[in-house]
Parts: sequence; structure tokens; C-alpha cells
Amino acid sequence: MELNLLILPGDGIGTEVTREAVRVLDRVAAKFNHKVNSKEALLGGIAIHKTGGPFPEETARLCVDADATLMGAVGLPEFDNWPPEKRPERGLLGIRKTMGVFANLRPVRSYPALLDSSPLKNHLVDGVDMIIVRELTGGIYYGTPRGIFGEGENEHAMNTMAYTRAEIERVTRMSFELARKRRKKVTNVDKCNVLETSQLWRKVVIEVAADYPDVELDHLLVDNCAMQLVLNPKRFDMVLTENMFGDILSDEGAVLAGSIGMLPSASIGGKMPSGAWVGLYEPVHGSAPDIAGQNKANPLGAIGSVAAMLEYSFGLMEEAAAVNAAMEKVLNSGNVTADLRPKGTPATTSEVGEAVCDAI
Ligand code: IPM
Ligand code: MN
Repeated sequence: MELNLLILPGDGIGTEVTREAVRVLDRVAAKFNHKVNSKEALLGGIAIHKTGGPFPEETARLCVDADATLMGAVGLPEFDNWPPEKRPERGLLGIRKTMGVFANLRPVRSYPALLDSSPLKNHLVDGVDMIIVRELTGGIYYGTPRGIFGEGENEHAMNTMAYTRAEIERVTRMSFELARKRRKKVTNVDKCNVLETSQLWRKVVIEVAADYPDVELDHLLVDNCAMQLVLNPKRFDMVLTENMFGDILSDEGAVLAGSIGMLPSASIGGKMPSGAWVGLYEPVHGSAPDIAGQNKANPLGAIGSVAAMLEYSFGLMEEAAAVNAAMEKVLNSGNVTADLRPKGTPATTSEVGEAVCDAI
């Protein structure tokens, strides 16, 4: 198979973890006789420095043409005081919207070798296996009106949380379809005791669920969900939620996996003419400027995102399984980065990447 990819290393540790992810991809492609054709483009802070904006037109054109896009992370401290519309993060929101990747799948699972890396007790974490499905192209991240208005006493700011029935329906269907391939259980998370957007959200979820009588559905308010995630995480299989709730809950989920450096993500949307998902793959973690350039970052979230790409964009299940198995082997070896609290000297980013390649 030919895999036509766009690579967006982005900022900070994004470039370091993406390098290892690409290395792993090349190794698995070579082993299974696939050809990788990749182009690289700019997104985020580096794009602002080189082109004046976080989401250059060329990147927009290339991501639409590619079979799949692999991204590192965006964000640089020199833009910390810039307004939202000019910041690196806006490039990420732009590419998600342009690609139309409305469902962000964030698998959270525990690995036996990492049980002690989580601050939670082993018996709570052991066996955790869920996917947080975060709606990705709507809600308060994109709603208008938005902005900071007025001056002095009259200065005020506004964001808008808005959802259409169609937006809720498509991500709900995606969750139920995926649930059928797992433990057939969807937990819908909203704030319908307060927010109208959540009331519509819950109504549409219940309507869609009628088409999936074989899948169990329950509902949690988001505040309670935040608590249940640490009290009883094994109760979750598919967690379906809107954009900002999903952003927050998935960082909490990272605690279960042992480190946010472990979490991959797949953002998928409509189908391409070939029938494959449009897909953007990125680790859940950010650009981590505090450890950037030190070869310390955990590349396994990025490498796991390669496995997700093989699975969702190319249907290459055996190849995806080979990457996941290699990751597990490296975790078991204890040759891991500092965030996973290794017993001896922590491994570097590139050592972990190389070890995964060797295990493939
Ligand atoms: C994430 C990140 C992004 C988000 C930021 C960098 C814009 O936190 O992917 O979880 O909020 O979606
Ligand atoms: Mn986030």
C-alpha cells in the first residue's frame, strides 16, 4: 500500500516525539512492504515565526490532499500574552475545522508495567480500558460571538457554546458504531442540569441510541464524571462528550494511564472518496516548553498515534497491532522516559523510539 502522509512536527517537544513516531512508521512500513510518501509542513508557533500566521495556506492545502496527517504539538511561550486569534493553538483549531475531523478518540488504558506510575492505587487502575470520544469541531471553542469588548469598567469578554442537532448526531453515531466493536457501552457526559446545549445534546443522544438497542447507554453530569474517573474508572467503556468537557476529562484520564505522555489520539471525520476516514493523529500532550530540546519527552503518545493512523486511516490492523505490541515490550523492559518513573536512569526520547523500532 502507498501511504501519502502529511507530517506537522509543530513546536517544542512536538518535533522530538514526531521524529520517533515517523521512525517507527518507516520501520513498520518496511516490514510489511508498504511505501510511505511524506511531506512536511508548518503549524503553530513555528508557522507564525516563518510565515506570520499559525495555519499557513500551504498547510491547509496539503492536509486536505494527504491520506492522513500526523501532528506533534503546538504552543510556544513567546506567544503566551498574544490574543487567542493569533496564537499557535489557533492553528490547531484551524486544521481540525478544515479537515472536518469532528470525532476525537482518546483511548485511555492501563499497562501492567505502568501501574506504579499512576498516583492512584493499583487495584483502581488495573484493567482500565476506555475511549473518550470528544466532539472536536464545535462547541465553545468555535462559537460566535466571542471576544473582549469595551474598556475600563465596561470591559467584558464573551464566548458562545453552541451545538446543532447534526453536529451532535454524527459524533454520537460514531461513538455507538465504535462501541459495537468493544464492550457495547456508551456513557454520555453533559451538564444538562444547567446548559441548554447539554439539554439538546442529551435529547439527540437518546434518539440516536434507539438505533443501537444492543448498546447500553447511561448518562453522567460532567462534574460527577470527573469524580467517577478516579473513583471507579473501570466502569467506563466509551465516554461521549462535547469539545471542552472532553479536553478537560482527557487530561484527567491521563492520570490513569500513568503519564500524559502515553496518550495517543485519532481525530476522524467524514470519509474520503476511497472510503477511508479523514484522519488527523496527534498525542494528547502539549508542546511542553519546559523540557523541549532535551531529548527527554515520552514519544509513546506520538507512536501510539501512528498505530491509530494505521488502524483508522488505512485499515492495517496487523501493522497497528505490531506497533502496540512493540510499545508494550518496551514498557515491560523498563527502558522508559522520566515521566514514567523508571527504576534506573531514564531513557531518552530517541532511545525509546529506537527500542520500539527494534521490537518491531
Ligand atoms: C488538546 C489541547 C488543545 C485543545 C489546545 C492546544 C488548543 O489541549 O488537544 O487537548 O484544547 O484542544
Ligand atoms: Mn487538552
